[in-house]
Amino acid sequence: MAIERNILVTGGAGFIGTHTAAALLRQGFKVWIIDNLDNAAAAAVDRLRNLVGPELSQNLHFQLGDIRNGDDLEKLFSQTQFDAVIHFAGLKAVGESVANPMRYFDNNLVGSITLYKIMAKYNCKKLVFSSSATVYGQPDKIPCLEDMELKAMNPYGRTKLFLEEIARDLHVADSKWRIILLRYFNPVSAHESGMLGEDPKGIPNNLMPYITQVAVGRLPELNVYGHDYPTPDGSAIRDYIHVVDLADGHVVALEKLLKHESIGCVAYNLGTGRGTSVLEMVDAFERASGKKIPIKLCPRRPGDATAVYASTEKAFRELGWKAKYGIDEMCRDQWKWASQNPWGYESKP
Ligand code: NAD
Ligand code: UFG
Repeated sequence: MAIERNILVTGGAGFIGTHTAAALLRQGFKVWIIDNLDNAAAAAVDRLRNLVGPELSQNLHFQLGDIRNGDDLEKLFSQTQFDAVIHFAGLKAVGESVANPMRYFDNNLVGSITLYKIMAKYNCKKLVFSSSATVYGQPDKIPCLEDMELKAMNPYGRTKLFLEEIARDLHVADSKWRIILLRYFNPVSAHESGMLGEDPKGIPNNLMPYITQVAVGRLPELNVYGHDYPTPDGSAIRDYIHVVDLADGHVVALEKLLKHESIGCVAYNLGTGRGTSVLEMVDAFERASGKKIPIKLCPRRPGDATAVYASTEKAFRELGWKAKYGIDEMCRDQWKWASQNPWGYESKP
């Protein structure tokens, strides 16, 4: 009989969490989600159930709760011995973090510390943590390598940097902690079924959801922030990664964590290793959707780097993981999700 493996997924109702939960369920894991629905729809969990079907849905449990609340976590940990935690729960809007840093320190730092205390109490010391390429700041050298100097450019980035340091300290103090820090580059796109996708509240900050809302007629045009960068077409370059590739990266990281006793606390980039400019992304989306995306060339967005992309060698060497999809597939699946769900998980307001 297969061994039962119970995984707690914090923030599992969100964009990356739902896709990762789907991948985990398909690999035979039992998945417990805790999410306060601050930035997610309850309908996303229903969709996840429909996607995996009635049999695998029995292995999915959802608890509405907040990781800052020890009682919410106690409820879960006192009933189930978790083999590991994948920790997505957190706030992620850079601009909002500048305007309201305390909200970010409270949610991301206090939430994570509360979680780690309860994990230690219940002797669950295996953790996959959502870090970000933001910890490279505005990198002097590209591609970004895991051992490069780390810096924070804003309060959101400071929470990721600080949580990476906390993770390293936890392991130094107690080698039973096994921790994988996954530094995502720019997660985009949607499940190939069109059933799961990104559904930002309010006006999107990020490029892909903004382009999408222009394509479905919710927004009139895309502001292209910066057309005088020292890049071939003058727009900024990022490393976009398909969320399904990212989800698979979590499954392999988790398998490694469960197998290798001496893993320590280790960071991996999850990106494609390829840079795409804003204007190239607009072109690719127009091809995939058949829609014209009107653009307005605007000044640079403060704090933005010219070009950021990952070195993916360490993840390939040590996890055997490599992204499968390129920007054409990212735009194809994003368009499938958007055309089937132009207003996200809810119907038109
Ligand atoms: P998301 O907002 O879709 O998902 C985060 C989920 O956490 C949401 O469902 C939200 O309701 C939940 N949550 C927030 N605070 C909580 C709390 N205190 N208790 C319980 N639930 C809480 O974001 P995402 O894009 O899926 O990102 C997941 C993680 O990956 C975040 O930690 C984010 O910082 C990190 N990350 C995201 C990106 C990106 O561009 N999407 C890039 C790098 C890193
Ligand atoms: N952009 C536009 N118009 C828009 C939105 C974005 O031109 O409406 C441009 C940006 O100026 C940037 C590129 O598209 O050049 C990508 O911007 P995103 O906001 O999609 O992504 P960022 O690279 O700025 O930020 C992302 C995550 C952050 C994380 C950072 C570094 O959103 O959380 O990567 O990892 F901190």
